[in-house]
Amino acid sequence: MAKQSRRVVIAIDGPAGAGKSTIARRLAERLGFTYIDSGAMYRAVALWAMRQNADPADMHRMEQLARAADIELQPAGLQILLNGEDVTAAIRTPEVGQQASVVAVIPGVRRALVEKQRALGERTSVIMEGRDIGTVVFPDADVKIFLDADPQERVSRRLRDFRDQGESAPPEAVAAQMQERDRRDRTRAEAPLTQAPDAVYIDSTGLSLDGVEEEILRVVRARLTNGKDFS
Ligand code: DC
Repeated sequence: MAKQSRRVVIAIDGPAGAGKSTIARRLAERLGFTYIDSGAMYRAVALWAMRQNADPADMHRMEQLARAADIELQPAGLQILLNGEDVTAAIRTPEVGQQASVVAVIPGVRRALVEKQRALGERTSVIMEGRDIGTVVFPDADVKIFLDADPQERVSRRLRDFRDQGESAPPEAVAAQMQERDRRDRTRAEAPLTQAPDAVYIDSTGLSLDGVEEEILRVVRARLTNGKDFS
């Protein structure tokens, strides 16, 4: 394995259900990098706002909450703490996902969370996934991936996630919610979901997890080690 002496940043962006979290977690483990799920941070702020009955239209209040939120991502991204409370499961509901997308439109919320994300990525090599990592959070990232998949496949994956968690949801509702969230994330004025010009586009439709992992590792090798083995 080629030794990396400097800090490396890998950015993975893409829509919901493209497989970013699973693949980023696997890669982080394989490369020994810190995994950071930026979406979990938007979800944590949304959860806090919901619990406080705060009006999402009150942009000032939302920014205050985002700034005040003490969000801790435990190693490997397996546990998320909000103000010291374990909210790992609580932030994964569809309602919190929708609200996360709503609060993510607010520029002040984004500023607060982008600061936290940059601070997290300051010390170690990281794989950070989200919507604006390669475009806004780390525009100088060493490797940028835009991970996509067919809308139908993304819905199927979400349904499978729910099933694995012992929950069920009507496919039409999941599809409609995902469509709405995608539209909001892609069309907002501040840091919309978009592919950075220097990002590599990977369509994971029909690919196995191993297949996606290998594709990304090929890009990582090419960008970081001029083709030498890296993992
Ligand atoms: O990746 P996720 O589904 O957990 O993200 C939840 C919402 O958070 C997503 O719909 C939009 C927002 N988000 C964002 O705006 N920017 C990011 N970097 C990550 C997530």
